Amino acid sequence: MGADEPSKSFPLKVGVAFAAFFLATTAGMTALSLGGGPAFLRPAVRQPIAFNHLKHVKDLDLACNTCHVTVETETFSGLPAVEICAGCHAEPQGTSAEEKRLVKMIQDQTPLAWVSLFRQPPHVFYSHRRHVVVAKIPCAECHGGIADSTSPPLRVRKLEMKDCLACHERKKVSTDCTACHR
Ligand code: HEC
Ligand code: HEC
Ligand code: HEC
Ligand code: HEC
Ligand code: HEC
Repeated sequence: MGADEPSKSFPLKVGVAFAAFFLATTAGMTALSLGGGPAFLRPAVRQPIAFNHLKHVKDLDLACNTCHVTVETETFSGLPAVEICAGCHAEPQGTSAEEKRLVKMIQDQTPLAWVSLFRQPPHVFYSHRRHVVVAKIPCAECHGGIADSTSPPLRVRKLEMKDCLACHERKKVSTDCTACHR
């Protein structure tokens, strides 16, 4: 045996290593496509228009619910339909190329298929009205500096269960499993 052994076990080892790599990769890809794992490992998202929050929120002084229309009244917040943009952009407001693209999309009635980055899995119950109106928590506490951003985030760090629990413990709110999982 001796010199013979490595060559015999070599294909097996490669096979095992390959299978392990394959399993790890598919598991990893599944986790990533579901939005799990660290934010920097998730694939970057491209939105249909390079929307500029800073310009609309700070320069034009628009309230968040101009576009996120249900944030104070419903559980969900929602991303704006093209009709909301059309209220101002049916006619060009400026000279930027990105706005030109938007005006064309409005004229062609192309829907704006925004990709939702913050969405939680379906087993989680979360209500914006409850947190924003009842508890009066500022948007930035959970969404960071998005109001000051000039282009859409490529990826975000979503709230994890431990983030929800940390605040609930601090504010003496329910930490029963069934409060958030219904
Ligand atoms: C003029 C319309 C408009 C206004 C006003 C606006 N937003 Fe947005 N918001 C958008 C659009 C369009 C997107 C999707 C593209 C992007 O991520 O930039 C978005 C995305 C977001 C997202 C990411 C959601 C996700 O799941 O990816 C958050 C969080 C958000 N906005 C918070 C705010 C807050 C907080 C304010 C007020 C300070 C605000 N927005 C004001 C249009 C608006
Ligand atoms: C209440 C009016 C209003 C609404 C609603 C509105 N915008 Fe604007 N938007 C403006 C104005 C005014 C400008 C400034 C034009 C300039 O200075 O170049 C602008 C600029 C822009 C620009 C180009 C400037 C830049 O810095 O990128 C884009 C792109 C844009 N808006 C996208 C959107 C989208 C997408 C929506 C809907 C989610 C939207 N806007 C909703 C008024 C509005
Ligand atoms: C206590 C934390 C918290 C606060 C405060 C908060 N949000 Fe959210 N936001 C969330 C969570 C959690 C989600 C994901 C909800 C889901 O999956 O339905 C979310 C999702 C969103 C989305 C994405 C909606 C979509 O369909 O993709 C927008 C836009 C948004 N929030 C805007 C706001 C605005 C505007 C405010 C302030 C007026 C605000 N949020 C305050 C936690 C918060
Ligand atoms: C920054 C603090 C904060 C964060 C973060 C937060 N919450 Fe809350 N949450 C509150 C407060 C305060 C209340 C109580 C509001 C009231 O008075 O009704 C509350 C209430 C709730 C309730 C109602 C509880 C009940 O007893 O009926 C649910 C459900 C809930 N939150 C889910 C979530 C989920 C899910 C997340 C994470 C995605 C989250 N919260 C993150 C502060 C927070
Ligand atoms: C304040 C809200 C809140 C409470 C209370 C809460 N959870 Fe969660 N839970 C979440 C959120 C948000 C997620 C999704 C994000 C994540 O996976 O971190 C989640 C995810 C989970 C998951 C899925 C994890 C995964 O990897 O897919 C399990 C299992 C779970 N929770 C069990 C529990 C149990 C058991 C309790 C009670 C001891 C509990 N949760 C209490 C908010 C909550």
